[in-house]
Amino acid sequence: MNEKHPILFCDGGASASTDEGLRLRWLCRRDFGALLALERAAFEFPWTRDEFEYCLRTRNFGGLVVERDGEPTGYLCFEARKRSFRLLSCAVAESERRRGVGTLLVRTLIERLDARRSKIACVVRERNLAAQLFLRRLGFRAVWVARDYYFKTNEDAYRMTYRADVAVAVDAAERTRRRLLSR
Ligand SMILES: CC(C)(COP(=O)(O)OP(=O)(O)OC[C@H]1O[C@@H](n2cnc3c(N)ncnc32)[C@H](O)[C@@H]1OP(=O)(O)O)[C@@H](O)C(=O)NCCC(=O)NCCS
Repeated sequence: MNEKHPILFCDGGASASTDEGLRLRWLCRRDFGALLALERAAFEFPWTRDEFEYCLRTRNFGGLVVERDGEPTGYLCFEARKRSFRLLSCAVAESERRRGVGTLLVRTLIERLDARRSKIACVVRERNLAAQLFLRRLGFRAVWVARDYYFKTNEDAYRMTYRADVAVAVDAAERTRRRLLSR
């Protein structure tokens, strides 16, 4: 996997660990069982084994897994396009939520943005408020509504994007605001 995305993640090795005892590494075939169970618990229309297989097989697709004590507790799949990443799917085991696992996964993508590839895009169900709030907290913004996006349910979707250039501007404005307030 590192050969597929030499610039991405886990620099200098196959994985990276955090102080909280989490380990971030590439998704591999032996994760499928755990991830399929996680998918079924997290989504009404879960990904299938074929979709995970496709992610591993396809050159510009990739996946990250966070594990605790050797057990996958969250994952993220993405497509690396020329100018952006597409966040295809991301889920965290229910027992591990609100402990920063999702943030660790998405931040890993954010940290790999640069002047050339400066945007992350994803599509979120209208009813998935938790995901919208999660992404918003990370700096994503809703940019348009896709009507009747999901053909099985006719549910609308929000397209949300993170833009590195906008995030830098927002951070700078926030720093200025704080400096002015502290005078
Ligand atoms: C969305 C999801 C991936 C978030 O993962 P997580 O590990 O719980 O997220 P984090 O702990 O990093 O949360 C970071 C912040 O996002 C926001 N957030 C996360 N979940 C939230 C929720 N259910 N309601 C409101 N805000 C939420 C909070 O601001 C949170 O910070 P806080 O805990 O200090 O308040 C997880 O809830 C999940 O797997 N949901 C089901 C699958 C799904 O909807 N995937 C789509 C993801 S794009």
